[in-house]
Amino acid sequence: MSGAPRLPEFFRLVAHERIDSTNEEARRLAAQGAVEGTLVWAREQTAGRGRRGRRWSSPPGNLYMSLLLRPACAPATAPQIGFLAAVSLGEALEALLPVAAEVRFKWPNDVLVGRAKIAGILLEASGDAMHGLDWLILGMGINVASAPGDTPYAATSLHWAGSAATVEDVLEALTLRLQHWYGRWQTTGFEPVRERWLSGVLGLGEQVEVRLERETLSGRFAALDATGGLELELPQGGRRRIAAGDVYYPSL
Ligand code: BTN
Repeated sequence: MSGAPRLPEFFRLVAHERIDSTNEEARRLAAQGAVEGTLVWAREQTAGRGRRGRRWSSPPGNLYMSLLLRPACAPATAPQIGFLAAVSLGEALEALLPVAAEVRFKWPNDVLVGRAKIAGILLEASGDAMHGLDWLILGMGINVASAPGDTPYAATSLHWAGSAATVEDVLEALTLRLQHWYGRWQTTGFEPVRERWLSGVLGLGEQVEVRLERETLSGRFAALDATGGLELELPQGGRRRIAAGDVYYPSL
């Protein structure tokens, strides 16, 4: 396509050629009272950030966007938005990639194509248990033209996987699916999202390594619980629920 992307009515597009980080800009806008649906998009980021303080390489040609949401829910529920974002992106990618391409989900929020990471999701939120969430920023980085070559995991892009989609095509397809899944989550809760995510998950039932802030655990990825936590079956018996961490599959 050419020209400005056409997004569903829910979204208020704020487009930049170049910015430090779309998540950072969305935070600034949230603090100024911007409405839910504000979507910051930049063609390039100079200080893109990933999960756990890592940097996110952000050259022109890929999609960098952050969506401001203000869901009426407890902060503990916010991680579910990461799963609905992964499911939405998975469906958008399936529509843009050749049919043979295999789109898969990796806990918690990675989206893979052909077992290589094509996108990352970064959630940032403000709120407390007493008053609920004030805002939530859903940051998504999608490799459209290229993928970084220096990652500790395999990475790919839409173009490398055989799609000729533009950044605008991806933004349009993704926002359509986000609108659908965000609406569904608000009316029906997490279960349909959880089922959809599980239908494309990689590594369920397999041995995995989970790296936490201060320890690394090994065990079997036994289940995704009703709130989005990973249930790890430990070698010494028993299960441990993991709310946040990095998962490594030996098979990848
Ligand atoms: C990850 O580590 O997998 C998450 C990466 C998230 C990157 C996106 S790019 C758009 C938004 N702005 C940022 O600075 N980060 C997120």
